[in-house]
Amino acid sequence: MESPKRVEHQLTDKGYVPVYTTSVVEQPWDTYTDTDHQVWAQLFERQKAVLPGRASDEFLSALAAMEMTPDRIPRFDDLNPILRAATDWELVGVEGLLPELTFFDHLANRRFPVTWWIRKPDQMDYLSEPDLFHDLFGHVPLLMNPVFADYMEAYGRGGVKAHGIGEDALVNLTRLYWYTVEFGLIRQRDGLRIYGSGIVSSKGESIHCLESDAPNRIGFDLERIMRTRYRIDTYQKTYFVIDSFEQLMDATGPDFAPIYERLAQLESVPAGDVLDGDHVYNRGTGEGWLNDGDV
Ligand code: PHE
Ligand code: FE
Repeated sequence: MESPKRVEHQLTDKGYVPVYTTSVVEQPWDTYTDTDHQVWAQLFERQKAVLPGRASDEFLSALAAMEMTPDRIPRFDDLNPILRAATDWELVGVEGLLPELTFFDHLANRRFPVTWWIRKPDQMDYLSEPDLFHDLFGHVPLLMNPVFADYMEAYGRGGVKAHGIGEDALVNLTRLYWYTVEFGLIRQRDGLRIYGSGIVSSKGESIHCLESDAPNRIGFDLERIMRTRYRIDTYQKTYFVIDSFEQLMDATGPDFAPIYERLAQLESVPAGDVLDGDHVYNRGTGEGWLNDGDV
């Protein structure tokens, strides 16, 4: 297979100038195999069946508006005009996880990095790094939502700032990302729903996060979340529930610098703990939890 072309520089009237801060790649669409397209189709159909009644209305309507279909892996170039028209976001192809600052810089400029390659058929239920299905199906639809789109940009800017403050600030901010963007739940008038991309791209967790008695489901609280450790190798022990994307936007509007300073004095909270003052929707039974391994 030919390696994808890197587009780090672009010819302009000033000569070749760097376009992005790192390794953006063109989606090598022609290199996808039939198996790749089938993996996409199966994952897509499976989530289309699981998500109605479980994913938030915002996610489902955004997914429909994006015009992704199961029959073949979407082309980023086809999705981008739709996304740009809706919220002025765009997708850029990448090889995989990016250095933190590079990732923040993309978000701050309303570019969402999408891993171009898709998992293998024996990884349908789990893989340890983000692939095309997680990034594209999981993250991209909500970028069509104007409020969530602004949140993601603000997060990117906040990330650049936290990076300049230090490692502890980044840990706090990463927990916020984890418990909102990746594993967030939202309260709809008819019950709890999923908006987190790590959940919507996983059949097992889509069911577990809402229907299992094992995990805690707790109301969103910014500083509480920023103190809370998380799982990267099992379902979450705790999910945090927002009331609306507006709530998320408002709560994260203030300057985090003094919050980081305050939190530096406090212990982190184990992933499964329930604290006094938590708004508890469900106190988890803890069934199946591993004792160690919180990150
Ligand atoms: N208000 C945050 C700060 O000052 C930025 C931010 C916004 C971070 C939204 C995350 C999400 O750092
Ligand atoms: Fe993700």
